Amino acid sequence: MHEKSKQLVPEAVHISLESLHLPVIKKEQPNYETLCTILQQFEHYFLDRQAKPIWETSNSQEYIKETSFANRRAVDWLTRLIASPLEWIHIASQREEVIERAAKCIAVACGKVASGPIIRDWSFPAPPGSNKPITLKIRDSTLLDDDVGFKTWGAAYLLAKKCTSGQAMPLDKIQSTFILEIGTGTGLVGLTCAMIGCLNVLLTDYHLNVLSNVAYNINLNQLQNVVKVEKLDWKDVANGVKPELQQKFDTIVGADIVYEVAHTNWIPKVIKQFMKKGGTFYLMIPLRVTHTLEVELFERCMEEQGFLLQYLQDQQGLDDFSGVQNYRYYEFRC
Ligand SMILES: C[S@@+](CC[C@H](N)C(=O)[O-])C[C@H]1O[C@@H](n2cnc3c(N)ncnc32)[C@H](O)[C@@H]1O
Repeated sequence: MHEKSKQLVPEAVHISLESLHLPVIKKEQPNYETLCTILQQFEHYFLDRQAKPIWETSNSQEYIKETSFANRRAVDWLTRLIASPLEWIHIASQREEVIERAAKCIAVACGKVASGPIIRDWSFPAPPGSNKPITLKIRDSTLLDDDVGFKTWGAAYLLAKKCTSGQAMPLDKIQSTFILEIGTGTGLVGLTCAMIGCLNVLLTDYHLNVLSNVAYNINLNQLQNVVKVEKLDWKDVANGVKPELQQKFDTIVGADIVYEVAHTNWIPKVIKQFMKKGGTFYLMIPLRVTHTLEVELFERCMEEQGFLLQYLQDQQGLDDFSGVQNYRYYEFRC
């Protein structure tokens, strides 16, 4: 793949991508031919970058910065393209082709092999008091499957790292702690909690295919004895639907779960319902420039629900979509 992409793509492709004119979709209404020319440039660019994912520790700061900028610009534009009905392109098959090619570019931009699921290895230094580094295998399905929960997000990696380093929940009590993960996606955070010794982890999400992928990841890491998986939809909880889950938890974890206005209202109610008195909610979210309102509303709703913000830390991390990304870490108590 790498050799092939090297042949296809001359060295300077990413430079020309930066100066590529990206028409304003609604205003300029680019025709089918123009869109195909731009998409072809993106396809070449992402094929080349696919051989060198952002997560690789050997990447130079310059590479990360350059990739960040180009990815963010490309993904923003491609997202607007997909969201547009493209009504000025009168042939349906041409509209479908444009959308499909744009979706594939986004999938590859976010670290996916567009053709199918991939299993990635994740590793963390040995937790304090142990000499065994933590390693996990996580299957990310393709984003084209239909939901954001098929991919492991940067916030999950940062939160898992906090858990293994002992900066989040206390490791001396981890064995007897009951941990609930909400919006688990591929399960990296909850599975990491099990790897560091927690004997009771429940991974939840609302999307059935996401749940079946996370069940696969539990088996892949041979954690069936300590990690369970269950459906939990925040919307149902917020609307007072009686949940099947009756248990309460000492610890709740969540990564990248506040990205719609509705979440800002639902999640505090979920935490209220499932956290034991004196428990802690550990949360890591990206501070996306497009989602400042959601973060603000969420912080306000948590306060209104009576949660105490015990600790807050802003930090930088990586993200497949946007490269370097600011994140916010919270510890809430009730
Ligand atoms: C951006 S992904 C983050 C996944 C994972 N925590 C990570 O960081 O890799 C958001 C997750 O929230 C889940 N989600 C979205 N809405 C939900 C809801 N109403 N109830 C439960 N889970 C939901 C999605 O299915 C997805 O797995």
